[in-house]
Amino acid sequence: MARKPFIAGNWKMNMTAESGKQLITELKPLVKGAKCEVALCVPAILIPAMSKAVKGSKIKLGAQNMHWAESGAFTGEISAEMLKEYGVKYVIIGHSERRQYFGETDETVNKRTLAVLKNDLTPIVCVGETLEERENDKTKSVLDKQLEEGLKDVEDVTKLVIAYEPVWAIGTGKTATDEQAQETIKYIRKKLGKLFGSKNANKVKIQYGGSMNAKNCKGLMAQPDIDGGLIGGASLKTDFATIVNFEK
Ligand code: 13P
Repeated sequence: MARKPFIAGNWKMNMTAESGKQLITELKPLVKGAKCEVALCVPAILIPAMSKAVKGSKIKLGAQNMHWAESGAFTGEISAEMLKEYGVKYVIIGHSERRQYFGETDETVNKRTLAVLKNDLTPIVCVGETLEERENDKTKSVLDKQLEEGLKDVEDVTKLVIAYEPVWAIGTGKTATDEQAQETIKYIRKKLGKLFGSKNANKVKIQYGGSMNAKNCKGLMAQPDIDGGLIGGASLKTDFATIVNFEK
């Protein structure tokens, strides 16, 4: 069966309850006819308000991180139960900004991923190389390690989403070319095949992320191994709807 495209926005540390509600109100009619899966991953504090705002629309709610423990002394962290109370469906795990600035490692990515799956939520596991790694021909080995260690002990890989986000393309306006993104995502699928069997790997949705916008989305989405996008900057505007409607 063909993989259904999945476009997700990552608001990062942007928007407020007020501006978020306003944007979702504008987006709702625009994404009404969307053929793909749609989600917005919003800051934790906005989840209650945005869960109300998306009601009756195609937009599902996602979080940007989640702790692996059920509860306890983990100041500043958010649990699965807290997210599920507000109907959250997706959780971004291991975004490069968390790896770069907040000490996220493949080991913690793995703990979080397993916990998200255990709670019947869908992790969007982020992988990707830095510019230096790409220039030194290390892209494949970096991805291998992120996938081997980040997805260790995952029982059903078809239940997760991978986002390939080359660090050099995030927030820089420097998108990977259609060919670069396709080639690397094809490699990721091949690696998943080695780890989990090719039948399973063919069912995994793999998104591209990094300066994806209303203009370049069609070319990227036309690539055979690219099943969606994880959209940063362009998800803060109604441009997000144009990306969601890439098939039109
Ligand atoms: P930009 O679309 O702003 O480059 O961000 C991509 C990203 O990091 C999404 O998670």
